[in-house]
Amino acid sequence: MIIAKTPEEVRDALKGTGTVGLVPTMGYLHDGHLSLVRRSVAENQTTAVSIFVNPTQFGPHEDLSRYPRDLKRDLELLEPLGVDLVFTPEPEAMYHRDHSTWVEEVNLARGLCGASRPGHFRGVCTVVLKLFNIVKPNRAYFGEKDYQQLKVIQRMVRDLNLDVQVVGCPIAREEDGLAMSSRNVYLSPEERSLALCLSRAVNRAQAEASRGVSDPASIVEAALSEIPDHPSITVDYIKLVDCDTLEELETLKSAGRILLAVRVGSTRLIDNGMVKPN
Ligand code: PAJ
Repeated sequence: MIIAKTPEEVRDALKGTGTVGLVPTMGYLHDGHLSLVRRSVAENQTTAVSIFVNPTQFGPHEDLSRYPRDLKRDLELLEPLGVDLVFTPEPEAMYHRDHSTWVEEVNLARGLCGASRPGHFRGVCTVVLKLFNIVKPNRAYFGEKDYQQLKVIQRMVRDLNLDVQVVGCPIAREEDGLAMSSRNVYLSPEERSLALCLSRAVNRAQAEASRGVSDPASIVEAALSEIPDHPSITVDYIKLVDCDTLEELETLKSAGRILLAVRVGSTRLIDNGMVKPN
């Protein structure tokens, strides 16, 4: 497994290596990340994983400086999976001091997480396009855990004619339903159990739809009733949206997506799931 620190090292290492799969990550890897890596290894001759806590996607008051990191452990998890290259640049190797070019998707990125995290998806699109240009993957793997991010990246790839296949992968969950996330380490034991309300809200929305409820407001209200009224919990948003446009649904005629972001203590968590009418 090659560890590359600069774009030039990546380009040299990946010359003539056949089909390349890329799994972009910010590290502190868990089974959700590893499920993407396994899929890439199965589908490509070469797999590259990037580990880069991208400063441009964090707001000034967000958790950039305390974002969890453990490169040694990440490399130990990746090696046995058959990963060929890990790209772990320092910020200076990714962003020139006078970096001044940005990629911005302005429709799908506006609402939901984009509304409470201004500039977040601009940072994501910019770094992902840079990673695509450095690694030149045939396929790139993203989790449905970050459903809006997946949709924004698919739109960027379509709109900018990027020659890469974006593969969306299912959400990996802990046994009790909590969606795996690097940020789960921030949770105290009490917050960890409160955090189960997110997956319960998703399940509830799905259950309402499958018993025939088709009014989005009623589905959202039922999902919201799973979020306890507790001083540590604040709902950022909870919405039932169209799977592709991310616009709020007026009725549930075909499959939609319930998306929510909830702050538990000082940790912002997200979850989502498909909601099918019966
Ligand atoms: P990060 O949060 O590290 O996630 C990296 C990839 O793993 C993303 O595609 C994310 O959706 C996926 N992922 C995270 N948790 C998952 C889970 N429980 N199940 C399935 N997939 C999961 O997302 C980012 O990093 C960054 O924004 C990045 C795309 C790397 C750009 O900086």
